[in-house]
Amino acid sequence: MANFIPEDKIEEIKNAADIVEVVSEYVLLKKAGRNYSGLCPFHSEKTPSFTVSSEKQIFHCFGCNTGGNVFSFLMKQDGLSFPESARFLAGRYGVDLPVGEMSAKMRQQVSEREQLIKINHQAMDFFHGNLLSGRHGEKALAYLERRGISRTVVDTFKLGFAPRAWDGLFNSLGRKHVPVGMIEKAGLLVARKDNSGFYDRFRDRIIFPILNMSMQTVGFGGRVMDDSLPKYLNSPETPVYNKRRLLYGLHAAKKKCRKEGTIYVVEGYFDQISLYQRGIENAAATLGTALSSEHIHLMKGFVKRAVLIFDSDEAGIKASERSVGMFVREGIEARVVMLPKGHDPDSYVSEFGAEAFYKMAENALEVMSFLMKTAEKKHGLSVNGKLGILADLRRALASIEDMSARQLYIKELSELLGIDERTVLEKVRETKATLEKENQISARRNERLQLAAGSERSRKAKSLNKGVENRLERQVVAMMLQYPEILPEVDASCVLDHFLDSTLQFIGKLVLSHPPGTKEGVSNLMSMVDDTEKRNILASLSIKEEMWNIRDCRKIISKLIGHSPKRQEIFLKEQIRAAERDNNQDLALKLLDELQKSTVLNRKQMREVLREH
Ligand code: CTP
Ligand code: MN
Repeated sequence: MANFIPEDKIEEIKNAADIVEVVSEYVLLKKAGRNYSGLCPFHSEKTPSFTVSSEKQIFHCFGCNTGGNVFSFLMKQDGLSFPESARFLAGRYGVDLPVGEMSAKMRQQVSEREQLIKINHQAMDFFHGNLLSGRHGEKALAYLERRGISRTVVDTFKLGFAPRAWDGLFNSLGRKHVPVGMIEKAGLLVARKDNSGFYDRFRDRIIFPILNMSMQTVGFGGRVMDDSLPKYLNSPETPVYNKRRLLYGLHAAKKKCRKEGTIYVVEGYFDQISLYQRGIENAAATLGTALSSEHIHLMKGFVKRAVLIFDSDEAGIKASERSVGMFVREGIEARVVMLPKGHDPDSYVSEFGAEAFYKMAENALEVMSFLMKTAEKKHGLSVNGKLGILADLRRALASIEDMSARQLYIKELSELLGIDERTVLEKVRETKATLEKENQISARRNERLQLAAGSERSRKAKSLNKGVENRLERQVVAMMLQYPEILPEVDASCVLDHFLDSTLQFIGKLVLSHPPGTKEGVSNLMSMVDDTEKRNILASLSIKEEMWNIRDCRKIISKLIGHSPKRQEIFLKEQIRAAERDNNQDLALKLLDELQKSTVLNRKQMREVLREH
């Protein structure tokens, strides 16, 4: 783990941080027995299987099997590196981390992500400084003023100005000895066509820094101050900026979102900022990209309702059709507001004020009703018109997986059209079948690609995970984690040497060498494993509470050891089969040899095995 934060500091952070508190920032948690539970932020679900243990300071999802401690939660949720998650928590819980110049060695250890974010941060400061005190900053400030943006909001969102020069930022960062390659990687420089060097991507533009939920600056948008084109330039996707996973302004909107249970989804930078300035702080912008399932995952933790605001029919219809299924899947109610012609949220709220905006949002139609109404407007209710409506709506209806929700919409539509419910259902089924076929084809393609990538490991893991083979092994590790009193006996019995599953064996050995005695014991162990799969298993085995007693534990141990020769045989045979599948004769023969030596089989049985293959 790239970890240049001193060990004792990590310890201090771990002791100060509270996983329930941190996770609550993203997931609505309810107390359930000794643990807390909520809707998993890492997969789609409507009944909570995501569990957080305050006692053990770990989380685990019984639905998708993701698990870990407070660091791994942030790493997964926000895509942070370990040091980033540690630094974020240190900031939040008031743990002082050593700052100052890093040594060369330390610099090497800092992940690429961190470097990019640091560069972005420096760029943000450069742009912001230029707006407030640069030579040509007045022009940009005047532009913002003309558009009604207050100084407070300029500061809150750290708006900036990129000077006209071709190397303004380049020089500024150069003076700080930032490597050119990294500035380019951050998307701030563009290579000259003739390869003679680089120039600033953003020139003579108003700059909007783009922050993620951990308040890291991951990218920028730049707007011209006149009618020249392109109106906006944006950072490209980089290792720290994934457009599908970012809603502009959500970091600032989160608090109000949670309070109101509602988020307003808008398209542009100015829309978000303009609403925010008028107290409608619970808005975030897709920045012109299509609303993705990741976007919805992001907001899921703190809203019940999303109000999508569009400035044109086509955009609204397209986005609504695409997103209705995703919203239903996440259990978020989605509504649609269509602004009066010629307005976008910024111009609307500037002209009519927040009250008018709220009133309009209150009357927003639920997304499916919106689609029905617009289709009705478009086609009319003649026979042909009705067929047109049905054709327009069936894809959206088919994308709704929840049967009862779909059925309710179908009922509504059949009433509108005056057509028998079954006829509508039939049409939707047809469409669904087509959609599913399309999905299957792409899924199969993916599978083939994965197989081609030679995922022998995953195949092995699958074959070992599904069966009863490793049930006993899981039990042993679970009791080691939950009932540490048994550790001396586990050690003495050498039961771990009989494990077939190397992952479980690894975890078992780790537990033996670092007994989870203290409160943060399990969470501690998690910091020691880099591998996500192992962390997930660790979490799943320690979070499920079982009542252990010494007698049952001993029984399990001796059962596992007793089964050992038989288990060895199963395991080797499985491996031989796999080797043969892969046409790896050398390995197959070697394993056969091992099988023979293991004295599990006598000669007669051996001949059988050979005949089988
Ligand atoms: N956008 C973009 N590139 C463009 C045009 C638009 O990336 N050439 C993105 C921007 O994120 C922009 C959003 O799409 O904020 C919405 O576009 P648009 O409605 O044209 O811009 P506004 O946000 O309304 O900007 P303004 O009010 O300054 O015209
Ligand atoms: Mn606008």
